[in-house]
Amino acid sequence: MSRKPVVLITGASGEIGHGLIDQLSTDTDRAIITLDLVPLSPKLSPKVRQHYVGSILDQQLLDRILAEYEIDLIFHLAAVLSTRGEFAPVTAHKVNVEGTLALLEFAQRQGESHGRSVIFMFPSSIAAYGLSGPDAKKRAGRVREDEFNTPTTMYGCNKLYGELLGAYYAGHYKQLVLEAPPSKVDFRGLRFPGLISAVTLPSGGTSDYAPEMIHAAAQGKPYASFVRPDTRIPFMAMPDAITALLRLASTPAQRLTRRTYNIGAFAPSAQEIMDEVQLAFPNAVITIKVDERRQNIVDSWPEDVDDQAARTDWGHSPKYDFHKAFRDYLIPTIKSQYT
Ligand code: SER
Repeated sequence: MSRKPVVLITGASGEIGHGLIDQLSTDTDRAIITLDLVPLSPKLSPKVRQHYVGSILDQQLLDRILAEYEIDLIFHLAAVLSTRGEFAPVTAHKVNVEGTLALLEFAQRQGESHGRSVIFMFPSSIAAYGLSGPDAKKRAGRVREDEFNTPTTMYGCNKLYGELLGAYYAGHYKQLVLEAPPSKVDFRGLRFPGLISAVTLPSGGTSDYAPEMIHAAAQGKPYASFVRPDTRIPFMAMPDAITALLRLASTPAQRLTRRTYNIGAFAPSAQEIMDEVQLAFPNAVITIKVDERRQNIVDSWPEDVDDQAARTDWGHSPKYDFHKAFRDYLIPTIKSQYT
């Protein structure tokens, strides 16, 4: 039992969770508590005060955490990604929407019990956009937050609605109830591009062709890209994604002009990624075997994002551009991992 404020991370065993726990545990002496369907890896466990194995949809479990800890910062990472969500849309909706609603309600109750605002960090996605195809995508170029908000995947719809729910909790919660407690949720959303980590592989996403290609080459395995070589979407190296999450979380609320921000770093075509991988791993065997259905999803996502607001409001400034991400982060880290 601890009444010192702690940080809660849901979906902690996932890709972002790995990087976030590593960084948070070195940055602060704040205790971290985590929640995931599966146990934490033995590497991460020592960095965490307590790990709960369970579902974000388990209300009794959330009530237990509420009673045991005082939380004023939540990273709500648990989600079903865009490819998996198309095979199980109702499950995706449950996890991505009902799960987010349960966590927002949890945050509000936490805030009411200790009297301070709870910062609620919500990773959203380029999947929140929906363009009608490659031509529209070319014409649109770098898109701003409020354009093309017509996603075509269950995951994209869920993330966009999660952003709206967060804004509702932060700004209009129970607006007609006279004696209602004030909102205690300080919601902050980040629309991530495709993320590439050198230490973990994503599962169930549609931007996965980039990380899969790199990790396959590093292990000497052949890889067939499921998108055309000219396919272009924004990507970011995982360390920059973690930095962005932590930077936005620690920015004073009065500096923020939006509830959800685009963030970008580089936007290579699949061909450019293949060339870079081939350069680093000359024996790599990469072929193309387009999966038209997954291609359609990537074709509905923007070529790049306009992240000016994030740069201006809270200093988003990715350390890794495309070549630096490969040269200084991905290749050396991956090589050491597989040898
Ligand atoms: N990486 C995610 C996906 O592919 C997009 O946010 O689903």
